[in-house]
Amino acid sequence: MKQRVFSGIQPTGKVTIGNYLGAIKNWVELQEHYENIFCVVNSHAITTKQDPQILKQHTYDMAALLLACGIDPAQSSLFIQSEIDAHPALAWILNCNIPMGEMERMTQFKDKAQKNPKNINVGLFDYPALMASDILLYQTDLVPVGEDQKQHLELARNVAQRFNRDFGECFKIPEPLITKLGARIMGLDDPTSKMSKSSKAQNHAIFLLDSPEEIEKKFKKATTDSQTSIVFDPERKGVYNLLCIYEIFSKKTRDEIEEEFRDQGYGLLKRRITEVVVETLEPIQREYTKIRSDEKYLLEVLNQGKEKAQSIADQTYKKAKTLVGLI
Ligand code: TYM
Repeated sequence: MKQRVFSGIQPTGKVTIGNYLGAIKNWVELQEHYENIFCVVNSHAITTKQDPQILKQHTYDMAALLLACGIDPAQSSLFIQSEIDAHPALAWILNCNIPMGEMERMTQFKDKAQKNPKNINVGLFDYPALMASDILLYQTDLVPVGEDQKQHLELARNVAQRFNRDFGECFKIPEPLITKLGARIMGLDDPTSKMSKSSKAQNHAIFLLDSPEEIEKKFKKATTDSQTSIVFDPERKGVYNLLCIYEIFSKKTRDEIEEEFRDQGYGLLKRRITEVVVETLEPIQREYTKIRSDEKYLLEVLNQGKEKAQSIADQTYKKAKTLVGLI
């Protein structure tokens, strides 16, 4: 029996190389070893303001992009969160078993509330309960995510343990799967903050669908420092971030990379990193255009994913509902 992997991504328009290196690339590489369920979490996306028509398009865009990155429908189920009603339904039951204090500790809520002072809604606060529901519904063993999701996963584990103890065995306790490389890619303009798709700053993030020219321009402008050597030193945040990105995309070792750039300047590092990122993204972009224009195929894959997900989710939800005494 293969262990089950579950993970999700919000369909908020553009996808950064942070999302790719921290999550999607690992989903693709892991998929043959596990039973996989991946979800486009559109219900999470409405915790921030969305244009309804655009959200709908972005949801399909994201599904197509995941397939273009290498999610293989023969090995992984892919579905859209809002298509399965058990997600918000279980989230309600979990809500009633999460103390306020535990939710108030979530740093991502504090961050997002600070960035969107005009739209601090209850859904944004409650976001981690819906995420816990996503994970627990599928009796998940492993959740591959970037480092920023660690605290949310801890909450999912806590609520599952408490529920099992108070009402009887219902949920598997999920483990986070956070890879050493790429778990926290930083902004190119400001290497002290996480690369984020919602940043408004130009030159902050490389997006998977960026043109070679855009990629070149952004890396050229990336923050470095005034030192001369090119070595992996976490204290030199800008250069370290670029080197980590180069390390993953080029698949070279740290020794090989330091040797490659011995006595060289940042100009060469930026050229090489541009080359390897463009080269990796080019086939993904080509595949994306193909899949996105084949609506029939995309809907077929999503339907198949939904059916599989639905059968598991319904079982877990029914069990949780019965255990708490709901009819
Ligand atoms: P989201 O959509 O913000 O990001 C998707 C995935 O990308 C990772 N990530 C990063 N990794 C490394 N460096 C970065 N700069 C970077 N930025 C983003 C995230 O850690 C994530 O793995 N709450 C989730 C979505 C979600 C989910 C779930 C995930 C909803 N339900 C259930 C797992 C299981 C989120 O907002 O991810």
